[in-house]
Amino acid sequence: MQENKETSTSELFYPSDEIIQNANIKEYDSLYQYSIENREKFWEEQAESLEWYKKWDQVLDSSNKPFYKWFVGAETNIIHNAIDRHLKTWRKNKLAIIWEGEPGDVKTYSYHGLNREVCKFANVLKSMGVKKGDIVTIYMPQIPELVIAMLAVVKIGAAHSVVYGGFSSESLASRIQDAKSKVLITADGGWRRGKITDLKKIANEAMSRSATIQSCITVRRTSQEVYMESGRDYWYHDLANHPVASNKCETEVMSSEDMLFILYTSGTTGKPKGLVHTHGGYSLYTSVTHKYIFDIKDDDRWWCAADPGWITGHSYLVYGPLINGTTIMMYEGAPNYPYPNRWWQIIEKYGVTVLYTSPTAIRGLMRFGEQWPERHDLSSLRLLGSVGEPINPEAWKWYHKVIGKEKCPIMDTWWQTETGGAMLSPLPITPLKPGSATKPFFGNELAVVDEAGNEVKPNEEGKLVIKAPWPGMARTILGDDQRYVDTYWNDYKAQGWYKAGDSAKVDQDGYFWVIGRIDDVIKVSGYRLGTAEIESALVSHPAISEAAAIGLPHELKGNAIHTYVILRNGFVGSEKLESELKEHVASEMGKFALPEKINFVEQLPKTRSGKIMRRVLKARALGQDEGDTSTLEE
Ligand code: WTA
Repeated sequence: MQENKETSTSELFYPSDEIIQNANIKEYDSLYQYSIENREKFWEEQAESLEWYKKWDQVLDSSNKPFYKWFVGAETNIIHNAIDRHLKTWRKNKLAIIWEGEPGDVKTYSYHGLNREVCKFANVLKSMGVKKGDIVTIYMPQIPELVIAMLAVVKIGAAHSVVYGGFSSESLASRIQDAKSKVLITADGGWRRGKITDLKKIANEAMSRSATIQSCITVRRTSQEVYMESGRDYWYHDLANHPVASNKCETEVMSSEDMLFILYTSGTTGKPKGLVHTHGGYSLYTSVTHKYIFDIKDDDRWWCAADPGWITGHSYLVYGPLINGTTIMMYEGAPNYPYPNRWWQIIEKYGVTVLYTSPTAIRGLMRFGEQWPERHDLSSLRLLGSVGEPINPEAWKWYHKVIGKEKCPIMDTWWQTETGGAMLSPLPITPLKPGSATKPFFGNELAVVDEAGNEVKPNEEGKLVIKAPWPGMARTILGDDQRYVDTYWNDYKAQGWYKAGDSAKVDQDGYFWVIGRIDDVIKVSGYRLGTAEIESALVSHPAISEAAAIGLPHELKGNAIHTYVILRNGFVGSEKLESELKEHVASEMGKFALPEKINFVEQLPKTRSGKIMRRVLKARALGQDEGDTSTLEE
């Protein structure tokens, strides 16, 4: 990062010669051009970086759009590439995971050791009757056993559904139900800000509401007292000590398009939406994006500070890095516990070389001041990453200067649960503009268009679309193909484009600037929440007859949840009721969904057909023009 140069939209930050010389990819434009002109060939060539039990008959099957299939006829298992193949090389004894618990305890696993633990867990799962095609739900804190459990499920041909450990029993129960899971894996608790979380208690509540669960495996983390129901609940360590849980287990042969995992995300209705990802394409897309964007080398210590319970954790904490044989850093707790230097201490202690995190985390740590990172030697860092929401230039510059010492390029990656991996992103060689995710990754064509599908002019706002299929794409929504089509593919049906649900601009240099969601999704601290989920949590409270939720800008969280509620007869709005309602939403959904503000109102802006016009509420709150209100009936 040497010279800075003003352009009409923003400053440019250039990579140093050293970065360019060492980069895995030294030139973007020509390879990009090649990759979109020869899309299938490009991916076929990249697929040579993986091992396949059997190669494909066809790279891409587009015969039943938008249900694309990749590497049709091929046989693989992501575990073969993430673990098994490394055991045949010197990487067998390379560190796969370095984990630090919040209380300071440390565990490390070589690829050899990780394989042993995964095999053991896989045999435990087999002994509980888990088979190919089953979906196992996992609800755990950020401990290595979470990763081991995910890998074990997949090794025996089942699929996982990881539910983030911050979700409520209600949310967990509905996800278990939708996936029809028979087995749940959880832990007695985890550590967060010096306190123990009640994971098993929440899991028990969820299980009491779900008809499908037959057995639950609990990993001991905190040793707190928990209720174990006989015939249903088993301690992992008891099962693992049984002779059936040997250290050897064959990896199940899967076809490329077999289900690897489902991951629930928020959408327009309250019903959970389980996006389906598959073995072949996802293995390829996560590993290739990880290797090229983050310029991964064998001596890296990679730290993706996301929870494995979200897509970022799936793709870039677990699968992409393991396939690339990378050493992964993992930390259980809060970034500012016991002091705001915890992350910087971890980077110094373990020599982390690449840090990938969210703008919310950066803004949160920035608040404590430069003195905290300045106490630590962060010189091991060579690259930084950002994901989950737009990064404001102020946070970008702080990250660049204070953490990256002006020598670490920042990879601002735009993507979604649906895309499986990064779609827009710089490479280390790309001149950067703070706040822009720059350009499409190889093989991808993205555009910003109007309602009719015409590209908007440079620097004009429009809708972000993806014009062609890519291997990492979600294949469908579990059990609801129609919803998959309606949600993503109907708006630009004639063109066959995928609608991202974000608004964006492209500037005169072809750089993309993602602005934010334009649908019923709110990104709060990087968490993806649906307005419908928040509203249904509110109306489940006896005082509420109708509710609307919107996101409004928030300095730290990016967006905060503001709600508008109509009370039932006999209830009066008060500060006490406001805090009760906030707590109610948090207990229905999880603490991360705590609303910022509850507004008591007499009526809500609606269309004549009765749909709440959240857009109007937002415009009013921001003092902006309400736009077209011809359908408004208040
Ligand atoms: C937002 C997270 C701007 C966006 C990987 C997207 C971003 C949603 C960025 C998906 C970024 C993600 N710049 N916005 N670099 N990355 N987003 O499914 O609104 O949790 O649609 O996946 O996050 O959220 P999800």
